[in-house]
Amino acid sequence: EWDMQSFIDTTVKEIREQVGKDKRVLAAVSGGIDSTTVAALMHRAIGKQLSCVFINHGLLRQDEEKEVVRLFKEHLGIDLIYVNAEKRFLSRLKGVTDPEKKRKIIGDQFAKEFVTVAKKHGPFQWLAQGTLYPDVIESGVSKGPAAVIKTHHNVGGLPKWLKLQVIEPLRFLYKDEVRKVAKLLEVPDELLKRHPFPGPGLAVRIIGAITPEKTRIAKHASKIVEDELKAAGYYDKVWQAYAAVGDDRAVGVLGDERVYGHVVMVRVVESIDAMTADWTRLPYDVIERISNRITNEVEGATWVTYAVSSKPPATIEPQ
Ligand code: XMP
Repeated sequence: EWDMQSFIDTTVKEIREQVGKDKRVLAAVSGGIDSTTVAALMHRAIGKQLSCVFINHGLLRQDEEKEVVRLFKEHLGIDLIYVNAEKRFLSRLKGVTDPEKKRKIIGDQFAKEFVTVAKKHGPFQWLAQGTLYPDVIESGVSKGPAAVIKTHHNVGGLPKWLKLQVIEPLRFLYKDEVRKVAKLLEVPDELLKRHPFPGPGLAVRIIGAITPEKTRIAKHASKIVEDELKAAGYYDKVWQAYAAVGDDRAVGVLGDERVYGHVVMVRVVESIDAMTADWTRLPYDVIERISNRITNEVEGATWVTYAVSSKPPATIEPQ
């Protein structure tokens, strides 16, 4: 096995040589493990020559934007360029129901936001990305089936005139190696243990049109799912866990009133690499607590269902 400390030492040297003493690097970060590790590694190598940008598209997990900014500042000592692009994303997504269209719009708006930042804070000569070895293989000749099922968004599609050269310091690593590198770089545990979250965020967990109400329900109910799994000791054992919401409604009672509320779908899966996944056989009492809390605490949610389809034939995200 490759020693990760020597990987860090070698890569830091290589980054310094490649970037040079006066060139600047821009990195888009999401708060996920890959982009955070790239940022930490680049920061160690070139310090202030690195700028990191975090774009909030309004479809993040509850309080995620605050946590990412805090984590970068306090734990990693990296200042973020924080862009609140919520309004611009959500206005373009208004009324859009097709999953692929949502992904295209989000990818396109990301590129636009990124260009704005590059112009405003630039010039930059380099773009740092958290590409891993499996991504390198997947985007090569042998595109796996998963690659074509859904368009995965990344900071692709940037205009050529920006003249950014791409630097990908993790391109020879697998995910478990990235985790080791992250740990050595003192990326905090709360981030290392956090479940993966798709780039388009809640857009792929809100079935049908994205509305403020469905977004609120998905965020709040997902937080309850996460908290209950943590309390029951399941959070660290599963791959992903969240609540999705669509346009299905079902009648509930609130006091002695009839409420025609939303059906919330809870999804908890186990997986090794996200190519296949199995639904988690949660104990009934955990499911019950999740259901009770969602119907009691989330305004407008009247029913809770539990997704019992594995991948394949289903996928991990509903959109
Ligand atoms: P699916 O739904 O295809 O998801 O079974 C497989 C894994 O990929 C994540 N996912 C995405 N990640 N951009 C991302 O960065 C995306 O567009 C995207 N779509 C799905 C999903 O959360 C799961 O871990």
